[in-house]
Amino acid sequence: MPNAYKVLSHLDLEDLIDPHQEFALDVLVGLSETPKRLSSRYFYDDYGSQLFQKIMDLPEYYLTRCEFDVLKRHKKGIADLIKSKSFNLVELGAGDGRKTSILLEHFLKNKYDFTYIPIDISEGAMKILMANLDRQFPELHADGIIAEYFSGLKWLRKLTDRRNLVLFLGSNLGNFNKPQSRVFLRNLWNSLKDGDLLLTGFDLKKDIDLMRRAYNDSKGITREFNLNLLRRINRDLGGNFDLTKFNHFASYHVFSGAMESYLVSREKQVVYVDALNHAFDFAPWEPIHTEYSYKYLESDITDLAEATGFEMKAQLYDSKRYFVDSVWEVQKISSVDEIPD
Ligand code: AVI
Repeated sequence: MPNAYKVLSHLDLEDLIDPHQEFALDVLVGLSETPKRLSSRYFYDDYGSQLFQKIMDLPEYYLTRCEFDVLKRHKKGIADLIKSKSFNLVELGAGDGRKTSILLEHFLKNKYDFTYIPIDISEGAMKILMANLDRQFPELHADGIIAEYFSGLKWLRKLTDRRNLVLFLGSNLGNFNKPQSRVFLRNLWNSLKDGDLLLTGFDLKKDIDLMRRAYNDSKGITREFNLNLLRRINRDLGGNFDLTKFNHFASYHVFSGAMESYLVSREKQVVYVDALNHAFDFAPWEPIHTEYSYKYLESDITDLAEATGFEMKAQLYDSKRYFVDSVWEVQKISSVDEIPD
């Protein structure tokens, strides 16, 4: 039987703020602040996404290999946690699906009755993913949803009662600051049913040099990735950033517990952005903050689950214990509800 997949719907796209306007506004606000900042969410245009795929293959970027190891070691344990042979495997931002294919293969081999539902805002990424899956797993039932994560989940909830296992792989949560990650997780909790499972990746605190090398690779791909923010402003907003006048700088901050990335102006300069009709002054060695990549202690993860309404079910480690995929269950029925009147 051919792989039955379809792109279900373009959800709520017309309700979103015009992405171009939103980018322009974020650049205006971010570069007007002291210290200057740009959001790492703008790394991921087509070129930025290609660079990130390259980063994941770098020897220094241990995170991807560790998560592969976690999924290979624990695929059976993950299947056992679902407790139901019939479920949806939902994935938020699936990329090229390389990691997920470990689970897909295991579930198919063991005849689980499941539908794979990747949710992604990018139609291009979804088409590539679906074509890959079609080739790799012709028997897989996959329904892609092109939407923002929470619109997609809301829509899914109306459509099916099956238990969901939601994957949020990589260390994507680490790119949010602490309040943002709580809001994100609570929104997820709101979009899911009691008993649904969330599997999310966390990069653990470890030797600082090892973490620093992962964000300062020898081939300079991470530097390119960081500079892509300026390239994107030039292309989309008519900026005149000279990329050779900015250094990539990434360092671990022991107090914040994050690798933090910056672009540092090598000299005094003025940069003009056409679409904003605005000039930005840079002092020599003035930084733009571009990314947080938070690193966690086990206790941070437990606290985060508890604070956002989940019960921790399992901590799945790689062999070196550098990375953990944490499995949480949505708890909606509070103990107060269970007290008879
Ligand atoms: C996507 N995210 C989890 C990556 C990270 O490690 O924070 C993005 C990245 N930034 C530099 N290298 C990779």
